[in-house]
Amino acid sequence: MDRESETELLEAALRSGAHVLLEGPPGTGKSTLLKRVASRRDVPFVLVEGNAELTPARLIGHFDPSLVLTRGYSLEIFDDGPLLEAMRSGALLYLEELNRVPEETLNVLLAAMSEREIAVPRLGRVRAGDGFGVVAAMNPFDAVGTARVSGALYDRTCRIAMDYQSREAEQHIVQMRSERVDDAWLARVVDLVRETRQHPDLEVGSSVRGAIDFVRLAVELADMRLVAVTHWDVGLSAARAALSGRIRPHDVSARRPEAIIHDLYVKHFGPAPKDEAPTGEEASPPGER
Ligand SMILES: Nc1ncnc2c1ncn2[C@@H]1O[C@H](COP(=O)(O)OP(=O)(O)O)[C@@H](O)[C@H]1O
Ligand SMILES: [Mg+2]
Repeated sequence: MDRESETELLEAALRSGAHVLLEGPPGTGKSTLLKRVASRRDVPFVLVEGNAELTPARLIGHFDPSLVLTRGYSLEIFDDGPLLEAMRSGALLYLEELNRVPEETLNVLLAAMSEREIAVPRLGRVRAGDGFGVVAAMNPFDAVGTARVSGALYDRTCRIAMDYQSREAEQHIVQMRSERVDDAWLARVVDLVRETRQHPDLEVGSSVRGAIDFVRLAVELADMRLVAVTHWDVGLSAARAALSGRIRPHDVSARRPEAIIHDLYVKHFGPAPKDEAPTGEEASPPGER
């Protein structure tokens, strides 16, 4: 299946004991790749969602404050955070959305990556077990924090760049994630979604997630309207709802997302057919404001 070379690289990097940075826009299959590789290995993996609330204490762990009062800082009342859990058990720590993690937390992580050991106040030194490794996923377009971490982080990791799937792989993913629909129609959906990534008016296009929602939504709409999924205005309604929030026009672009989607829809599916009865509210094109 697809992503063969990335899968192989990640596998090899982890076997070699390296830490890995998976870098790519949302929806390029970073989580899927990691889960696939993790499921093939014997070592457990600990997943952490990166966000602004991931403090060093949350990543490392902390003494239970209510018990500290009565029992003091004893080892038994320390709650391991995901980093300590992964280090102690020699597991893989998978950190999603690394670019959203606060700087202090990143520093802790960087230290654990290079020393394979961390010093926790009142707990002491914790050494990482053999299988310990970090795989971090990062979206290069999400500028927050990216610049400040880049040097130290890139120096400690092997980087696997994840780009959008090939056309064939993307069709295959959408097929797997939805009910069976007309192949030619599905191929057009995928082509439309792929074009949002190159569109001159758009800064950010939709990932495969948009194509998956497009198809699923169209299937349900067609069902409710008692028409085929290929019905022109079923597709238009689905395209607008699935894609208009996922694309971001350039700041200088005066065009609204709905109008851009409408034009793309007409380009890929043709103009509204005259002999097909409208089934929804949206059969007429949107005005540009
Ligand atoms: N190889 C694949 N097989 C099946 N589904 C996939 C595959 N790659 C991606 N997907 C689907 O595409 C979407 C985005 O993939 P995901 O791994 O979550 O991307 P990321 O972590 O880069 O944002 C998900 O719905 C996922 O299930
Ligand atoms: Mg992900």
